Amino acid sequence: MTRSELISHALQARKQSYSPYSHFAVGAALLSKDGRLYTGCNIENAAYTPSNCAERTAFFKAVSEGVREFSAIAIVGGPEGADTLALCAPCGVCRQVMMEFCDPKTFEVILAKDPQHYEIFTLEQILPMGFGPKDLEK
Ligand code: THU
Repeated sequence: MTRSELISHALQARKQSYSPYSHFAVGAALLSKDGRLYTGCNIENAAYTPSNCAERTAFFKAVSEGVREFSAIAIVGGPEGADTLALCAPCGVCRQVMMEFCDPKTFEVILAKDPQHYEIFTLEQILPMGFGPKDLEK
């Protein structure tokens, strides 16, 4: 799957965003190392704190189906109904969830405006000195 295709899937997932409180719609498309695709959108709640980000929706769908190794995630987000999108960076909680399942040196976080306009970061770049499973070894 190309990066542009992954972004297109994130844009499709964004259409499912349930965000009646923030009116900020986010979509994510997560690619596993064996080439499977898991999409997610943000899902808000009247009690606010149970809300879930698009990225975690995608990760939790994958992990709940037994998939734990990933190569990239594309993220798109912005105000509902916006004509053009700015880059939307993942929140700290989502970065930490990525740290649990991804190699910080190689996992690609693709922040996109559309399939042709995007920037790529490694997880290590957006979560320097991240704490992960390796820190609990020994
Ligand atoms: N949100 C995401 O889903 N992912 C991000 O990367 C940033 C923020 C959601 C959470 C909330 O539903 C809305 O966007 C506004 O913060």
